[in-house]
Amino acid sequence: MELTEREMSAAPADWFQRARWWAGSRLWDRRAPKWEEEGAAGLQSVIDAVVEAAGAGPGTVTIDLGCGSGQLSVPLAKQGAHVTAVDISSRMVELVRERAAQEHLEHLSATVSPIERLVLPPASVDLVVTNYVLHHLRDADKAAVVRAAATWLRPGGQLVVGDMMFGRGRTDRDREIIKSKVATMLGRGPGGWWRLTKNVFRFTLRLRERPVSMDTWVRYFESAGLVGVSPRSVVAEAGIVVGRKP
Ligand SMILES: C[S@@+](CC[C@H](N)C(=O)[O-])C[C@H]1O[C@@H](n2cnc3c(N)ncnc32)[C@H](O)[C@@H]1O
Repeated sequence: MELTEREMSAAPADWFQRARWWAGSRLWDRRAPKWEEEGAAGLQSVIDAVVEAAGAGPGTVTIDLGCGSGQLSVPLAKQGAHVTAVDISSRMVELVRERAAQEHLEHLSATVSPIERLVLPPASVDLVVTNYVLHHLRDADKAAVVRAAATWLRPGGQLVVGDMMFGRGRTDRDREIIKSKVATMLGRGPGGWWRLTKNVFRFTLRLRERPVSMDTWVRYFESAGLVGVSPRSVVAEAGIVVGRKP
């Protein structure tokens, strides 16, 4: 059974948070039409790892946080899961709805909301998944989303987070990842140099790219009361963390 919009009530937010959401929704509306070929294609191994770890089956009540154009929601719905896909971008949500209609996925619905604002009934879902979304959130909001997801899960339910996972250069692993990302962008010519400049700005000021290390994710999961927390590196910069509601 999917959750209805009525069951998802909104949490309050201050004006600064609202301004961030407005800017985020505009940005992702613009990126939506090309996300499938230009963005998500490069993330396929992480998407596959999240879908596999989710272990969804017929009737698994699932929430996909920051669904994009359906990269997790569509394969999970094809496995029979009853998926509610949530995204801040109305254009992304339209794309998910179009795909659900084209592929006759009756148990895939999509709704527009910032994930920080989502409030679901306690113990109402079996699975919460998210891929390459939470690094956009402020750290306190990442931890709050994990805590919220833990309350939505039924006993035995799972949270699976896929994302870029590295810190700000404190460990050898962080430095290796940052060095390799810089080298890749430098090698792409003027387009890459421009992207590098923007990313350095965003990463150092933590404006839009706010990844945290895998250890930090494990800490968020454990302090939310999730058990059996297991992190796994998928590609150099990215990994998944899985935890279960006791
Ligand atoms: C990098 S894309 C990832 C999309 C998809 N999960 C995937 O694996 O390809 C990030 C997505 O998160 C959404 N997003 C960013 N911030 C959000 C927020 N605060 N609440 C809900 N969605 C958000 C964007 O609109 C975008 O669709």
